[in-house]
Amino acid sequence: MRTDTGQVFKLEDYRPSDFSIPQTGLTFRLSPDATRVTAVLTIERRDGAAASAPLVLDGDGLLLKRIAIDGRELAPADYLATPDQLTILKPPARFELLLETEIAPASNEALMGLYRSSNVYCTQCEAEGFRRITYFLDRPDILSVYTVRIEARLDEAPLLLSNGNPVESGALADGWHYARWHDPFPKPSYLFALVAGNLGQVADSFVTMSGRKVELGIYVEPGKEGLAGYAMDALKRSMQWDEQAFGREYDLDVFNIVAVSDFNMGAMENKGLNIFNDKYVLADRETATDADFANIEAIIAHEYFHNWTGNRITCRDWFQLCLKEGLTVFRDHEFSADQRSRAVKRIAEVRTLRAHQFPEDQGPLAHPVRPRRYREINNFYTATVYEKGSEVVRMIRTILGAETFRAGMDLYFERHDGEAATIEDFLKVFEDVSGRDLSQFALWYHQAGTPNLTVSSTHNPATREFTLEIEQSVPPTPSESRKRLMHIPLAFGLVGAGGEPVAYGGVEGAAVEDGVIHIRKRRHMVRFSGVDERPAVSLNRGFSAPITLSVEQKADDQFFLAGHDSDAFARWQAFNTLLTDALIAAFRQILGGAKPAFSARLTGLAGKIAGDETLEPAYRALALSLPGEADIARDIGRTIDPDAIFAARETLALAIARANQDAFANLYGRLADDGRFSPDAANAGRRALRNILLDYLSLLPGGASLAARHFEAATNMTDRAAALTVLAHRHDGSPEAVKALAGFEARYGADPLVMDKWFQIQASVPGPRTVDTVRELIGHASFSMANPNRVRSLVGTFSSANQTGFHRADGEGYRFFAQTVLEVEKRNPQVAARLATALRSWRSLEPGRQAKAREALLAIAGAENLSADLRDIVERTLA
Ligand code: BES
Ligand code: ZN
Repeated sequence: MRTDTGQVFKLEDYRPSDFSIPQTGLTFRLSPDATRVTAVLTIERRDGAAASAPLVLDGDGLLLKRIAIDGRELAPADYLATPDQLTILKPPARFELLLETEIAPASNEALMGLYRSSNVYCTQCEAEGFRRITYFLDRPDILSVYTVRIEARLDEAPLLLSNGNPVESGALADGWHYARWHDPFPKPSYLFALVAGNLGQVADSFVTMSGRKVELGIYVEPGKEGLAGYAMDALKRSMQWDEQAFGREYDLDVFNIVAVSDFNMGAMENKGLNIFNDKYVLADRETATDADFANIEAIIAHEYFHNWTGNRITCRDWFQLCLKEGLTVFRDHEFSADQRSRAVKRIAEVRTLRAHQFPEDQGPLAHPVRPRRYREINNFYTATVYEKGSEVVRMIRTILGAETFRAGMDLYFERHDGEAATIEDFLKVFEDVSGRDLSQFALWYHQAGTPNLTVSSTHNPATREFTLEIEQSVPPTPSESRKRLMHIPLAFGLVGAGGEPVAYGGVEGAAVEDGVIHIRKRRHMVRFSGVDERPAVSLNRGFSAPITLSVEQKADDQFFLAGHDSDAFARWQAFNTLLTDALIAAFRQILGGAKPAFSARLTGLAGKIAGDETLEPAYRALALSLPGEADIARDIGRTIDPDAIFAARETLALAIARANQDAFANLYGRLADDGRFSPDAANAGRRALRNILLDYLSLLPGGASLAARHFEAATNMTDRAAALTVLAHRHDGSPEAVKALAGFEARYGADPLVMDKWFQIQASVPGPRTVDTVRELIGHASFSMANPNRVRSLVGTFSSANQTGFHRADGEGYRFFAQTVLEVEKRNPQVAARLATALRSWRSLEPGRQAKAREALLAIAGAENLSADLRDIVERTLA
């Protein structure tokens, strides 16, 4: 484990390396406890570098066994080798460096570098894992052509994979064999990959737009081949889509995906050899939910799309991470929107952004989409870099229009193919194709914080003028107290009494193009002339900008938009705002304040939406799912009492259920499962609607037995898990819940990915008792502290998705959390650091909980030998 050096990396300190490594040859002689790695590196001093400059290579916990230059062994005085660095004091201008290191994959529990997962050798090198394999210039601007030879015992590892194309393979003495791979595309070390082991294969092929045939392989644990069909289908659709939507063709003869069961992240885009968390590959109706299928499709696409946005064009340094991640998330969002329902996908994206990125941006871990400094780069794979980074790309398209945006992307690929690029390079192509000045817009990359727009409107019938008064502000964030004014593309509509768009004569006060107001100043008075009657205003249509809105909007207008807005996102938003207002009113009432709100009107509208056959079922399901407890907490902002929020949410849910009892029961009946199964969006949408109706109906008398019947009758995991959730959460301790939990465990005890759902459902049971359940489940035979999926399902779910359980008033949830984070850290600092972000919003809690959360953070901070990963998170969280 890398302990903290306290070193801070700064963007302004970037300078190119003195050396380049045009060729990298690697030979692995694999064995679990002592793998020999021989690296043969062609190294050249760069033009302009000082002749006296030493060569300093990165390492991480390495043991150097041999070192030679141009075939001659080096004398001890010629170099300096520590586990973390190799310095060659007087290197020639051009030479071949031979390095031999020895590593122990079987005892690598951090899952970075070369490790073992269920007896399969595999690698994870992003961001800085390659240095755990050999000494190297382990930075993304060092592009090298790799040739890899893998040697292993045939019985232990019949399958030998690396990047690029297979070149040769054959038998060796003593039951060993070898394979050689060559990747012709120069790449940074973080894209290196190797897999060796005994795996089952699913094979297929794809013919590219220029007629080249690509062999596709998905490798899984033997016996699980039948679960990889959906992933293969998603891969072929991704390849097809990237050709049609972005003109991007695949470039090697083979494309392989390997699924492993121990993986820190979701998946990794290694050139020609993507490695996946098996949770994002394996699926069938029996074991995977519709959400799992959607995730698989999106992640397969995401990693495949990186081949152009990330691999062919990579990042100059890790500050530019959003160059590949934000852009590739944007691409996978568009793919899913095209494959499924655009409106539903957009709403889901915005919910995710608000749930993960907004709290980050509004708390101590806030940072710009392109950060300027970091201590541990692993901690910057954040919702801000990914999700907000994607929104920034979307805004560029909104500002330029789809056609000019595409021209800019074409120019980007043409201009920077084979390079390690920056955000400045990216913005420049769009300035060049559009002739626009994007310098103010660029603040979206450089400035942290969620901008807020305050909007009010007036209508003057006498002058037939309608005016929007819009004011922008960006709240201060850590180390950025003063903010500059942003360029915010605000899509809008003026809606007439019949739901039709209101025509206006002219507009002044801001540039308005194609339904978008360009906010660039602190305050705009946007005047529309020729408007006879006061329209309702629909703002931030399609969520054109990742901002918050403070709008003085009459409830009548809000109800009207929730029923009539022609923009599907804005219509959903209007209803969601009404729900949030009602929840906050109920919360205040529980705390002894204000009056109950417009309950009857709202529950009536919920019923209307549920039964509106003109709306897609998936859309109706999203509309009916109440803002989560964390969403409500965010809107309340401070002195959060999670128990009161929970009670408010239950009250509203019950009111909706009671008011619509018959209609919901009826619709639930009509949506009954016909036993046929398809994971497509339309079918999943019907299941989603039926399952949210079950959720409401389960609150009414007979709810537990209804849910138990739903559970028993389920013919797929979506329905079974939904029913189990309802039973465990709403009827905790009931005979029905106990029976269903035991039945599920008996049926799936041998399937770790399905048991993750069982852990998750129990870890998210609301209330004070859950911390004890979670403690107990840590001892369950299916649980393992060494496996990231298990840890996230149980501990991650408890700490980030169980508001009343985790934030138990006596602080027991936090104490358990601090203890567990430190235990996970011993093995896997990266997973521990990610878990630890669950307390990032601790300052928003009411004083009692706040003090207890702080104690837990201090307990973590005070532990000895803290890893760089965890120290970075806790110190920034406490700052
Ligand atoms: N490049 C990342 C994987 C990664 C993340 C490596 C962090 C090292 C550190 C990959 O492309 C990625 O972004 N994966 C996501 C899923 C994706 C659909 C957003 C992940 O693993 O969560
Ligand atoms: Zn990615």
